Amino acid sequence: MSPQRRPDHGRSASAEVPSLVDLHNHLVPAVDDGARTVEEAIATLREFAALGVRRVATTPHLAASRAAGPRVRGVAESFAELRSAAAESVPEIELSLGFEVRLDEPDVELSDPELGLGERHLLVEFSMLMMPAYPVATLETAIRQGWIPVLAHPERYAGVAERYPMVATWREAGALMCVNSGSLQGLYGREAEWVARRMLADGAVDLIASDNHARPGRSETVRAAWDWLIEGGFEPAARLLLRDNPEAVLEGRDPQPVPPIHLADGWSERLRRLVGRSW
Ligand SMILES: [Fe+2]
Repeated sequence: MSPQRRPDHGRSASAEVPSLVDLHNHLVPAVDDGARTVEEAIATLREFAALGVRRVATTPHLAASRAAGPRVRGVAESFAELRSAAAESVPEIELSLGFEVRLDEPDVELSDPELGLGERHLLVEFSMLMMPAYPVATLETAIRQGWIPVLAHPERYAGVAERYPMVATWREAGALMCVNSGSLQGLYGREAEWVARRMLADGAVDLIASDNHARPGRSETVRAAWDWLIEGGFEPAARLLLRDNPEAVLEGRDPQPVPPIHLADGWSERLRRLVGRSW
């Protein structure tokens, strides 16, 4: 399991930050566990803008079993309020609405085009507490209804570190993988950090997003991942993961494959020892 990696080359920490895109965060006020008020959301958007983010799709949680109900309309109304405030206060950011759909039941109705990130992609998540018994079949619920699923934070689900090869089966089924920026810095623990980095080393990450919940003191920005990747000398991957690919998704195009990045020799083994696992 331990990959042989070349040392990092071509460090370019001074790379100019392009217009970054963030397609997973929770800034619609008072509709989920994200921003509580318009003011909190605007403060976060201001922070994003100062860090070079120029396009944001905000994605409130939505249980798939409720996706055909009135909740979508209610969220859209709250979003409209946020968007008009943001147009005044943070005009440099282009803001749109998506959802993070929790695939909580089999055979749920997902036909509402308003659910999508753009016209073709649907941001989905599994339960954080328990992996579905058949994760591929769960993803196929969305695929059957015409969506390309974008799986949020694959590195964070319970059990994924022990059964890492299952990530490949999700990708083979047709899902795109959207890792959280904070996972690369260990914000969600060592296991998520290991899985996120291992996925990057395997070329198994399509997108990186912030999953920002407007919580004070939390460093949840796509800029953090940009800086981490640039420091490692991975500027081409950084441009794909944080600008080109999320932009493609929002515009209904296919993202480009991201080549494996070559992390420093021995990182996987070191992290595995820290976690105390025997993968
Ligand atoms: Fe989220």
